[in-house]
Amino acid sequence: MVETEYRRFVASEVDSLVRFLARDTWPFHVSATVSGDEVRAWAAAGVFDSDETRTFWITVRADAVGLIRLMDLGDGTPLFDLRIASEHRGRGMGPRALAWLTRYVFTEFPDAERMEGTTRQDNAAMRRTFEKGGYVKEAHYRDAWPGAGGRRYDAVGYAILRRDWATGTVTPTNWHDEPF
Ligand SMILES: CC(C)(COP(=O)(O)OP(=O)(O)OC[C@H]1O[C@@H](n2cnc3c(N)ncnc32)[C@H](O)[C@@H]1OP(=O)(O)O)[C@@H](O)C(=O)NCCC(=O)NCCS
Repeated sequence: MVETEYRRFVASEVDSLVRFLARDTWPFHVSATVSGDEVRAWAAAGVFDSDETRTFWITVRADAVGLIRLMDLGDGTPLFDLRIASEHRGRGMGPRALAWLTRYVFTEFPDAERMEGTTRQDNAAMRRTFEKGGYVKEAHYRDAWPGAGGRRYDAVGYAILRRDWATGTVTPTNWHDEPF
């Protein structure tokens, strides 16, 4: 198994960010492609690094193979976006990165009681990645995810609880709670 490392993005690395994001395709994101100008504008607006946001490179022998953006760090339920470069997908890096990220958040942010992620309903690799990481499906949003050509997809929301992470258990969602 190839060894992956995680390193915090710093503002001087915007050119590397442009190369990573704009040269690849992201078929399950709202925009499958992003331009260099968009990445630079996002970086200037603090989308990758701010009081509430941190971004990390996933590297193999110092080469960037993936990117994690951690958001909403101030509200007790951080949210994240995980991207593995296309030539490195399908080798288990996503699940390993999510395990690292979950540990990072619960170790670094004592007030974080949960961690959440959302993906397009047909993103099977990401859904399996959530499940392998101990995340549980908590939400299904119909037609909530805009795609190319005006198509709408369902979105699904997953979360992990600090107490489940700490004890290695998985508390299921209570789907049968209607009082009627
Ligand atoms: C989604 C993503 C993070 C997954 O990471 P990855 O390293 O490519 O993950 P893997 O291919 O190793 O797959 C993880 C699991 O999903 C399973 N899987 C992958 N594709 C699948 C498919 N089409 N159907 C069912 N299961 C699938 C794998 O078999 C594996 O499970 P296993 O270990 O039990 O065999 C990565 O593919 C990626 O970055 N995709 C593009 C960006 C993206 O969609 N990010 C999610 C944004 S929320």
